[in-house]
Amino acid sequence: MKFSYPIVNADIVAHRGASNVTPENTLASVRKTAEMGAKWIETDVRLTADLKLVMIHDETLDRTTNSSGTVLSKTLGEIQALDAGSWFHQDFAGEIAPDLEEYLDCVIECGLNLQLEVKEVPGLERELVERVAVVLREKWPTGKRPIYLSGFSERCLRYAAEIIPDIPRCIALVAAPQYPAALVKEIGCQMIHIQDIPYNTPARFGLLKSSGVEFAVATVDDPKRARELLDMGAQSILSDNPALL
Ligand code: G3P
Ligand code: CA
Repeated sequence: MKFSYPIVNADIVAHRGASNVTPENTLASVRKTAEMGAKWIETDVRLTADLKLVMIHDETLDRTTNSSGTVLSKTLGEIQALDAGSWFHQDFAGEIAPDLEEYLDCVIECGLNLQLEVKEVPGLERELVERVAVVLREKWPTGKRPIYLSGFSERCLRYAAEIIPDIPRCIALVAAPQYPAALVKEIGCQMIHIQDIPYNTPARFGLLKSSGVEFAVATVDDPKRARELLDMGAQSILSDNPALL
């Protein structure tokens, strides 16, 4: 499959939406991202007990809802009955964790491009990618509006390459790899994400840049640092602040 590069044609990807001013991964965070002028939004999708897809970053409900326990232990209906806004601020009381369909509708309505991160439960990688693929086929105007799939799970990315080969893929890493081009070839993906940690020195960024592999850095909320990273060859920056630059 031939993709056109860069896959991300903007400096900023809004990490979990406008998560600096709204509860992450909610529809409020999508709308705010568009209002703040970003072109790209990032979000996290995971499976529920009834194998539906819900937009929640953590494995558990504890941090971002008024309940507790794992997402995988509750049905989508049970999760959507929870408050996913009050933990952030009372102004967002009643905000719910959207399912993938309603999230995509909102992203499209807001005119945003999407980084969809698959949050796997080990053992359910295929179920996750298959279900995501069905919804993307139904909802996303692939080829007309930019999108890419990302994840820390190589297994998920391999399944995605098989099931939805027309959607580009990004491996999320922590450290900048020694051989970026070999790594993306091995996994069958087109992009690398790394984190902004001291291990990733300018020399490591040099290796990434000279490999020619598109890469981005997560998660950066300091505009000066974001500029430095872009100057070192990052194609884009994931930030909680959609208006960082
Ligand atoms: O692709 C990397 C980025 O999505 C990381 O996000 O917050 O899920 O680790 P996070
Ligand atoms: Ca993420």
